[in-house]
Amino acid sequence: MIDIKSVINSDAQLMERTLENYLSMTDDKYPVLFDAMRYGVLDGGKRVRPFLAIEFCRMAGGSDEAVLPFAVAIECIHSYSLVHDDLPCMDNDELRRGKPTNHVKFGEANALLCGDALLTFAFEAACSNKFAKSCDIVKAVKLLSEMSGANGMIGGQQIDLLSEGKSIDMDTLKYLHAKKTGCLIRCASLLGCIAAGEKCTPELYEAADKYASGIGLTFQIIDDILDVTGDEIIFGKPIGSDAEQNKTTFMSFMSVEEAYNEAKKLTEEAKAALSGFAGSEILCEFADYLLNRNK
Ligand code: IPE
Ligand code: IPE
Ligand code: MG
Ligand code: MG
Ligand code: MG
Repeated sequence: MIDIKSVINSDAQLMERTLENYLSMTDDKYPVLFDAMRYGVLDGGKRVRPFLAIEFCRMAGGSDEAVLPFAVAIECIHSYSLVHDDLPCMDNDELRRGKPTNHVKFGEANALLCGDALLTFAFEAACSNKFAKSCDIVKAVKLLSEMSGANGMIGGQQIDLLSEGKSIDMDTLKYLHAKKTGCLIRCASLLGCIAAGEKCTPELYEAADKYASGIGLTFQIIDDILDVTGDEIIFGKPIGSDAEQNKTTFMSFMSVEEAYNEAKKLTEEAKAALSGFAGSEILCEFADYLLNRNK
């Protein structure tokens, strides 16, 4: 029996040390930028995306050294997306990861630049990978840009904004969730596969994508539920933010129980995608852990 919580904790600690190393630079003419970047990334995130990258790489037989620079890249992109998502012109939130949001702490313009710098730094980190082949680094950079850009996460954020105060149908909502949250979760999982190089079979790559699409949609459904039912201290961000911003979420269509059941069905499908692959237990347990999370 795997103790999934201890695997999550040890991967998160490994990631924290790695992120601290990568983000240790500064410039004494403008330390505020580096302070804001560290504030936005270090100390607080659950490190879901790095976990997926690390564990898919391990499952495929790759090394931690080869995946860590890619894990840094995806966590920096994710963290930048949160800094910008919280801005007054976006979701206008003041609590993130249990701390005041970046713009509350550093001011709006500095938070904007901090996000820009984190996004750009992600590509620097990915390219610094000394343990992956050049062709695999190119694949990783291509994936990172596609999944975080206009056809990926930002596309999702755009639909989210366009949908504020409007009634959108369920298919559009699923499309929005798949983009704004699903894309970075898929990206993280596939980066793990890419880091394993030739050790990752095309079949595992495809299965990883299927699994990640399922848990990605689940992840946003649970986020929508927790935005209504969560405990602010545990969740680390404001409860009721979606209603305040007139967002259409899963809660606009169904009860908490119905949404949870939908998430449960998706989780089962995600786990089924990995069945038959050796070493899939950790990722299957992780899917259940995410389904039942309260933060
Ligand atoms: C929050 O992501 C934004 C969503 C995609 C719902 P996480 O819940 O992974 O946030 P952190 O990184 O743990 O703070
Ligand atoms: C945003 O979704 C996901 C991003 C791309 C940042 P939410 O707006 O629901 O995320 P939270 O609830 O603020 O973390
Ligand atoms: Mg948002
Ligand atoms: Mg938000
Ligand atoms: Mg939310």
